[in-house]
Amino acid sequence: MTVAKKAETAEHPGAQPAERPGSTGGTELGANAVAALESLATRHLVQPWESLEHLGEEARTLLTGADRIYVQDAKGNRLLDGPAGMWCMQVGYGRREIAEAMAEQAMSLAYNSPWYSTSPVAAELAGRIAEMTPGDLDHVFFTTGGSTAVDSALRFVQFFNNYRGRPEKKIILSRGGAYHGSTFLSASCSGKERDRNFFDFATDRVVHLSAPHPYRRPEGMSVEGFCDFLLEEMEAKILELGPERVAAFIAEPILASGGVLMPPEGYHQRAQALCRKYDILTIADEVVTAFGRLGHWFASEAVFGFVPDIVTFAKGVTSGYVPLGGFAISSKVIEQISGAANKGSVYANGYTYSGHPVSCAAALANIRIIEQEGLLAHVREIAPYFQARLKELEELPLVGEVRGIGLMACVDCVADKASRNPLALDKEVGARIDAHCQELGLVVRPIYNMCVMSPALIIEKPEIDKLVEILRKGIELTQDDLEREGLWHR
Ligand SMILES: Cc1ncc(COP(=O)(O)O)c(C=O)c1O
Repeated sequence: MTVAKKAETAEHPGAQPAERPGSTGGTELGANAVAALESLATRHLVQPWESLEHLGEEARTLLTGADRIYVQDAKGNRLLDGPAGMWCMQVGYGRREIAEAMAEQAMSLAYNSPWYSTSPVAAELAGRIAEMTPGDLDHVFFTTGGSTAVDSALRFVQFFNNYRGRPEKKIILSRGGAYHGSTFLSASCSGKERDRNFFDFATDRVVHLSAPHPYRRPEGMSVEGFCDFLLEEMEAKILELGPERVAAFIAEPILASGGVLMPPEGYHQRAQALCRKYDILTIADEVVTAFGRLGHWFASEAVFGFVPDIVTFAKGVTSGYVPLGGFAISSKVIEQISGAANKGSVYANGYTYSGHPVSCAAALANIRIIEQEGLLAHVREIAPYFQARLKELEELPLVGEVRGIGLMACVDCVADKASRNPLALDKEVGARIDAHCQELGLVVRPIYNMCVMSPALIIEKPEIDKLVEILRKGIELTQDDLEREGLWHR
């Protein structure tokens, strides 16, 4: 009955396209249709990180199309997509090869149960990923996205220790500023304070260490000294908890949503050595950093010089065309709990859509594009230009630091450069910059006082120039607003 009522309502616009502008393939909707869809969204759609305080007040930007590194909103505005969706749109929008691979797969084998079968594309993709991962991380488990990749990896660690008769070895070390997902266990590992309000977490299992954030290191401490401090803190914590109780250390090589936090030189290698010393497994959460974002398939070894025991991936594996995630486990680890000598060893964890054939077909098509177009080399070549151009924004009074690596960057706004304090109205500043930038043709991802950038890997120099020019203007306009409103002074 409800369905019939909804279908009949005049507010259900049926998305009649008013126009189809060429390049984006987007649908420009008439004003009435936009208003009707926004009304449906505000009344019925609950979005991630929804502000329930303001529920029903405002719809998020309605996007109807996209091409290459641009998205198009329902009013026909074409915007450069600064964050590439959510750090995921590696090869750019509108790739017919990926759409066709998905359509062909859907027609030949739309689904198979991974409980008792597999598919050619899942087998091929597992083989390809095993080639790409560092060291002997040759065993691939597929999930439905990043949170489930992290969750499954953590459950694997739990299973590994329980099976080996070490049920007390359970604690997971994570860091402040981390983001690992939205399942109970992955969210428990996340360390962004504001995201923890009013939720319960596995506090008996997860212990957080300091964020490796050199820009906000203690006053008077060198970066090298800060690195020593972080590793000393880690070792002290392991000893305090008892190494026999610590199971794993999970770390994003670069803390992405935490604000592109770049650990000091050598940090990951030293953390890895500590984990080896105390028989603790290392999990590199490469949901953001894999599949080309730093110019390599995986960044742990290629960029940071360490080989984890487990690596997670998602996002860029399909360039966001369809959900897929997973993790790869080292042979050395899996051999300890597999084979005829390990009776009853069953990793009882999985999803209806583990290794979904349509997702695997999309991933293989995506990987082919990255290879054929030399996108890993392109990122390595263009990233220094991207970083250098963005770094110029540090001359603006509101900008404390611009940091980044590869095609990941963050503009960190401060009350004043000397104190490096985020602004008092920190929640607002990124959103204010984003609002101005969207008017000017650029989407930025606001995170409180920061804006993060991670454009599609195919971005070219003139587009980087455009991105930086609009971002500069957006920050300048925000500075003017803040000053006019008496909230900040240069
Ligand atoms: C490092 C990291 N891990 C895990 C996740 C969770 O991924 P998903 O949103 O696909 O569940 C994210 C999402 O942004 C992430 O950045």
